[in-house]
Amino acid sequence: MVDEVIDRCPTGVVGFDKICRGGFVRNSDNLVVGGPGSGKSTFLLQFLWNGATQFGENGLYCSFEPDIAETLNDAMAYGWDFSKLSSEGKIKFMRFSPQTSIEELKKELMKVIAQNSIKRICFDPISVLALNLNDKGKIRETIFELSSLIKRLKVTTIFVDESLEGEMGLTRDGEWTKTDILRFLSDSVTVFYESGIAGVGDRAVRIVKMRRTAHERKAVGMKIGDSGILAGEDVVTNE
Ligand SMILES: Nc1ncnc2c1ncn2[C@@H]1O[C@H](COP(=O)(O)OP(=O)(O)OP(=O)(O)O)[C@@H](O)[C@H]1O
Ligand SMILES: [Mg+2]
Repeated sequence: MVDEVIDRCPTGVVGFDKICRGGFVRNSDNLVVGGPGSGKSTFLLQFLWNGATQFGENGLYCSFEPDIAETLNDAMAYGWDFSKLSSEGKIKFMRFSPQTSIEELKKELMKVIAQNSIKRICFDPISVLALNLNDKGKIRETIFELSSLIKRLKVTTIFVDESLEGEMGLTRDGEWTKTDILRFLSDSVTVFYESGIAGVGDRAVRIVKMRRTAHERKAVGMKIGDSGILAGEDVVTNE
């Protein structure tokens, strides 16, 4: 069911959009959490690819990983030729080092968003920003500043955070991770699982919270195939 009142930013991952009534809420900040290989980066690339090719929305992928070329190669394997979109000015890729200060980051973002009419931004993984910050208050302040700026600029954001154990930020030792605060600050939290807990598919995805909208609260099946992520009902119908 599509919600007609709230403006949406569809991911184009049909099964995912279905379980949240049409996609992310426009201009919201959204957190994607999951373990290694759970599909986080794939989901972001698909969100940006669909944004540009299906919905006419330009996107920006901010990576803190050492090698963007590798990310682009991964995307190519799903048939997403970002180099073409890049040369057309529809998608920008930027790499930040973990040493980048929040001031530099904000300045750079403001410039790129304005110059390229960016409507969608992904940060993969945001936890790198917190590496040099030891104080939890400082981490909260930094992330709050960043997401407030992006919201003012009317962009829909996805932050990736890595989790090892459990879905609520607890590590194996029972310690909270440094970026757990993101789960409270973000407008939505979605967890990706690298094994099937929903009874269908070999993976699963669950929307933990999404402000201003109703959504499916159970985990639904998910699959990564040659054309990217399938979720929800689509996992079953495409098998
Ligand atoms: N063509 C494909 N068909 C099926 N599964 C694939 C295909 N390509 C990649 N995968 C799966 O997708 C996974 C990678 O997903 P992705 O890189 O999005 O995970 P991630 O959550 O970003 O991981 P990390 O935390 O390590 O960055 C691989 O481990 C592999 O299992
Ligand atoms: Mg990744």
